[in-house]
Amino acid sequence: MEDELIFLDELVSLIKQKKELSPLDDDFVKEVVRSSSFTVEKNYDSFDQFKRSKLCKEIVSSVRKRLRDIYGLFLEKPLSTKHIDRLESIEATSLLSLHKSTLERAPYYPSLYPLLLEKLHEMGLKKDYVLADIACGYNPLAVQFLPVRPKEYFACDLSSKDMAAIDYFFKKFGVKGGAEAYDVLGTRFEEFFSGKKFDVCFLFKALDPFEQVKRHASKRLLSSLPTEFFVVSFSLFSIGGKTPIPASKRSWFEKFCQKQSWEFQTLQIPNELFYLIKTGK
Ligand SMILES: C[S@@+](CC[C@H](N)C(=O)[O-])C[C@H]1O[C@@H](n2cnc3c(N)ncnc32)[C@H](O)[C@@H]1O
Repeated sequence: MEDELIFLDELVSLIKQKKELSPLDDDFVKEVVRSSSFTVEKNYDSFDQFKRSKLCKEIVSSVRKRLRDIYGLFLEKPLSTKHIDRLESIEATSLLSLHKSTLERAPYYPSLYPLLLEKLHEMGLKKDYVLADIACGYNPLAVQFLPVRPKEYFACDLSSKDMAAIDYFFKKFGVKGGAEAYDVLGTRFEEFFSGKKFDVCFLFKALDPFEQVKRHASKRLLSSLPTEFFVVSFSLFSIGGKTPIPASKRSWFEKFCQKQSWEFQTLQIPNELFYLIKTGK
């Protein structure tokens, strides 16, 4: 977007008035506004005047749609530190319903996580593993279901508010590691992980939203993350759970693993397919 500074702050506030977008960081929303293909000419006297224009409505609706597809669509209700204050133990089952992905997965965690870890250990994952949960949503709140707590648990997603609440949860219940906001397709995230080594990275239901932002972004991220194992999952049904997503939609991913000579196994729950991948990195 040209003349990017005109009304940028005001536009961001207006866009974030939608409740499901309110936890997003201003800087991230600014990036999305900047990368949209609109041009604002300098012939508006005030933001109030601009706000009434067709152009402003188009920008707001287009940017909100993009942000909804990336983030807002999955949120039932924003998580806050107040939710964590009310918890008496690490059993945060009641909070899994705040995000659609954890809500859907909630009935299956007690059997899914032990089986997932058993298979990963059979494939060679060490017992005292370091876990990175990338584009984590509220999945770290399900840590109680991991049969053995990771030695360290790093979690990241887009919103600083969400990540502050997850970090607070980790600290309150002694989970080592931390949660921090990153756009995982950006250079700041590359700086964060360079020099680090994870044993396993979870990328649950994350690759489809990445592809919405930048085509082939997932392949670049998978190639560069320093981890011995990935657990990548895909939704088997569209949001709302009614329309099946055909296997052809993820054939690119299986081809990519084959090209990298990464061996994988799969594990399925009714709404989600998990790939357990050994990278040999
Ligand atoms: C379908 S949700 C899955 C959440 C979680 N992994 C789970 O399965 O419970 C997709 C998540 O990807 C996150 N996301 C999308 N683009 C991202 C980006 N560029 N950087 C970090 N997180 C991103 C969204 O904020 C959202 O929480």
